Amino acid sequence: MASSPMSTIPDTGNRVAVIGCGRVGSTLAQRIVEKNLADVVLLDIVNGLPQALALDLLEARGIERHDCQIIGTCDYAETAGSAIVVITAGSPRKPGMNRDDLLQINAKIVVEAAKNAIAHSPDALLIIVTNPLDILTYLAWQATNLPPRRVMGMAGVLDSARFQTFIAMELGVCVRDVSALVLGGHGDLMVPLPRYSTVNGIPITELMDTVTIERLVERTRHGGAEIVELMQTGGAYFAPASSTCLMVEAILKKQSRQVPASAYLQGEYDLNDIFIGVPCRLGCRGIERVIELNLTDAEHEALKSSAESVRQGIKKASEMLKN
Ligand code: NAI
Ligand code: 2OP
Repeated sequence: MASSPMSTIPDTGNRVAVIGCGRVGSTLAQRIVEKNLADVVLLDIVNGLPQALALDLLEARGIERHDCQIIGTCDYAETAGSAIVVITAGSPRKPGMNRDDLLQINAKIVVEAAKNAIAHSPDALLIIVTNPLDILTYLAWQATNLPPRRVMGMAGVLDSARFQTFIAMELGVCVRDVSALVLGGHGDLMVPLPRYSTVNGIPITELMDTVTIERLVERTRHGGAEIVELMQTGGAYFAPASSTCLMVEAILKKQSRQVPASAYLQGEYDLNDIFIGVPCRLGCRGIERVIELNLTDAEHEALKSSAESVRQGIKKASEMLKN
């Protein structure tokens, strides 16, 4: 295994700005305050929505017994001094849409949101959640000019949690005994890694036949779409909010957790100048390391195909933003 070097990012305070307070953003805010992790500033373009959600969350404070402040606003000035900015602003997928269909709508929203938020919190770490995830993380990084290690996308934690869930359900074992790993872009070409997915240290390749594993891999790849098809009015938000909260907690509590995240690659996995899901060491400085796993030729090829699709999306989005 090889690792890239640590960056030097100042550790700021305990305020998290959540830009876009729809289903993912508002559930994330709830998770953050109910875990007593940080004060939250909720920002949305729809006047009244962030203010209402902040008040509603504040009114639960005595019952949930936490001490966090929650501000709802449409004004970026009120997000100033945030240690972390999370962007969930944009549109979710509708039935029949793939994540790339969202590109046209969400690229402008995320670029503007990232620029505005970082202008008021220049020391913040930036977590992108809006889809198409890896492409928008790249665009947000370009737009803000932040050191790459301070910019990351949330998807690998969610995709791995889904794979973990399906493995536990299939084997009938406690989900806490299962550890799963998914690399690659957050799309249909994501790369679940059965060899690196275990039940208390035993690779699932020892516990299930290849047909079963392939079925779980496919279900993981379509995990987001499965929920969109059922829901019809939007996408998943409980597990996405929990996954983002895990990253926020890792940063705020300086945990140096090892999680998959969309990170900037500079030669790791033979990939350059791209954000894509890889295992990372995540702590108060952001992406402290990219962990380079030994992959088989087939796994490496799958990662390269996923990266190619992200690269095409970045190209398309950059052209769209020029017009
Ligand atoms: P939602 O529609 O419930 O919320 C989006 C919010 O963004 C709305 O409140 C809307 O008013 C706001 N918004 C739109 N334009 C804005 C702007 N310019 N400035 C500030 N706020 C703005 O959508 P939901 O379900 O919360 O999903 C949000 C995004 O997260 C979608 O793109 C979805 O695909 C993505 N997502 C990504 C996941 C991942 O694993 N990376 C998982 C789940 C969702
Ligand atoms: C998900 O995977 C839609 O990206 C979103 O649930």
